[in-house]
Amino acid sequence: MNIIKGRKLSYDYFRVDEDGKEEEAVRAVDQVDLDVKEGDFVAILGHNGSGKSTLAKHINAILLPTEGTLYVDGKDTKDESKLWEIRQSAGMVFQNPDNQIIGTIVDEDVGFGPENMGVPTKEIWERVEKSLKAVGMWEYRSHSPNKLSGGQKQRVAIAGVVAMRPKCIVLDEPTAMLDPNGRKEVIHTVQELNRKEHVTVLLITHYMEEVIEADKVIVMDQGKIVMQGTPKEVFSHVEELKSYRLDVPQATLVAYELQKKGVPLPDGILSMKELEQELEKLRA
Ligand SMILES: Nc1ncnc2c1ncn2[C@@H]1O[C@H](COP(=O)(O)OP(=O)(O)O)[C@@H](O)[C@H]1O
Ligand SMILES: [Mg+2]
Repeated sequence: MNIIKGRKLSYDYFRVDEDGKEEEAVRAVDQVDLDVKEGDFVAILGHNGSGKSTLAKHINAILLPTEGTLYVDGKDTKDESKLWEIRQSAGMVFQNPDNQIIGTIVDEDVGFGPENMGVPTKEIWERVEKSLKAVGMWEYRSHSPNKLSGGQKQRVAIAGVVAMRPKCIVLDEPTAMLDPNGRKEVIHTVQELNRKEHVTVLLITHYMEEVIEADKVIVMDQGKIVMQGTPKEVFSHVEELKSYRLDVPQATLVAYELQKKGVPLPDGILSMKELEQELEKLRA
């Protein structure tokens, strides 16, 4: 089943001139058909301004389509009576963990979401414990979030979303402000949630190492989905990706340069290990 289904979804921002009159529409998402299978890990790539964040904000109805429709877990996001259910089905994690953590103690912070949803107190604490354990932050339950590292804070923010038991989590560049260790922690956490808890993940990122293990990669440019497929399929098109001003994994780039020099390597090599194996085959 597709947990997310967008049809011809478009979104316009309106820019108003100085006297507050002449409105000019900026089309940020343009006629997007989006299908995400329940349980998948989907990575979304695209240069700055390609519409990724605007699309992401539709998934928990922060924004509503200007045209077209979006269904989340079978619910039309335009249906106001379903707003709470939609927000419960799809949680969002943003770039800056400081803007997402409101509690002064870690476990309190994680409990806010379920509390707002009206979950009974006993169950709130069960959820807090399970969520903090799932992100590896249970030992820090009595700490002040201020004292945590960026990666730890982001894991607490993720626990806060997990505590609401969403079927799907959308993460908009959650590692952009983190150091390499923090990035690894957070991505590992998200991968575990996907593998063990079967949470559907949509991850917007610029880091290729976070993309190569995804089930599906979606590439956006100028508000449109311009490529989609498995990482292998998408990264087989190095020139096309370059035309969208995107990076490719390092091993993919090395393989591509070798191909151009006449080395008969297959397309879509994603890791150095794979590259080594392919080179080994050529020597045999
Ligand atoms: N609040 C806003 N008001 C007007 N235009 C916006 C606003 N937010 C984004 N945009 C424009 O919409 C387009 C898509 O932006 P965005 O969704 O943030 O892209 P991305 O996340 O891929 O960088 C860009 O042209 C951007 O300038
Ligand atoms: Mg963005």
